Amino acid sequence: MTLPQKLVKESLTTMTELVLPNDTNTLNNLMGGKMMHWMDIVSAIAAQKFSNHIVVTASVDNVSFSQPIKLGNVVTLQAHVTRSFNTSMEVAIEVWGEDIPAGVRYLSNKAFFTFVAMDKNGKPARVPEAVPETEAEKDLFASALRRRQLRLILAGRMKPHDANELKAIFDIEKQQ
Ligand SMILES: CC(C)(COP(=O)(O)OP(=O)(O)OC[C@H]1O[C@@H](n2cnc3c(N)ncnc32)[C@H](O)[C@@H]1OP(=O)(O)O)[C@@H](O)C(=O)NCCC(=O)NCCS
Repeated sequence: MTLPQKLVKESLTTMTELVLPNDTNTLNNLMGGKMMHWMDIVSAIAAQKFSNHIVVTASVDNVSFSQPIKLGNVVTLQAHVTRSFNTSMEVAIEVWGEDIPAGVRYLSNKAFFTFVAMDKNGKPARVPEAVPETEAEKDLFASALRRRQLRLILAGRMKPHDANELKAIFDIEKQQ
C-alpha cells in the first residue's frame, strides 16, 4: 500500500504571544514552563495539520534556554514536521523574542518534539509520509532518523545495537 504524502511546509505553524507580567519570573523574564506550554501547543498544531489527527506528545528533546525573553517582548514560535515515521512525527520548533521598540529580534530556543497521531479509539494511527523540499528541510529530514534512534534508546524502546543510523556515525568517526 502506498502511503499518502504531505509536504513538510503544509505543517508550518506560527504563533505569536506577548510576554505579560503573569508570564514572568522574579527577574521579569518569560518563565520556562510558560514557554514550553506555548511550544507544546504550536508543535501539536503543526503535527495535527500534518496528520489530520488528534495528536499526543510522546517526547520532548533537549530544551535549553539560550536567551531569556523579557517582559513586554513579543514571542514568535514557529513549528513544522521534519519527518514522519509510522504513527509518530518529529516536529522542529524555533522560539524568537522581539523587542519591537528597540528593533531587536533574537533566537531564544530550539527544540524537537515527537507526537503520535491517535485514531477515534485512542490508538496510534498511521501518518502520511513527509516530503521535504528546501535544503534546510532535507537536512532536518535526514538527521531525524538518528535523533529518533537516540530518543528511543533513551526511552528504553530500542536496543543500541539496532540503531544503525547512530552506528554509522560512530563508524565514520572511528575511521577518521
Ligand atoms: C505515546 C503513546 C501514544 C505511545 O503508545 P504505545 O502504546 O507505546 O504505542 P506504540 O508502541 O505503538 O508507539 C507509537 C509510536 O510512539 C512512538 N513513541 C513512543 N514512545 C516514544 C518516546 N518516548 N519518544 C519518541 N517516540 C515514542 C513509537 O516510536 C511509535 O512511533 P512509530 O509508530 O512512528 O514507530 C503512549 O505512550 C501515550 O499515550 N503516552 C501519553 C501521551 C500524553 O499523555 N502526552 C501528554 C499530553 S498530550
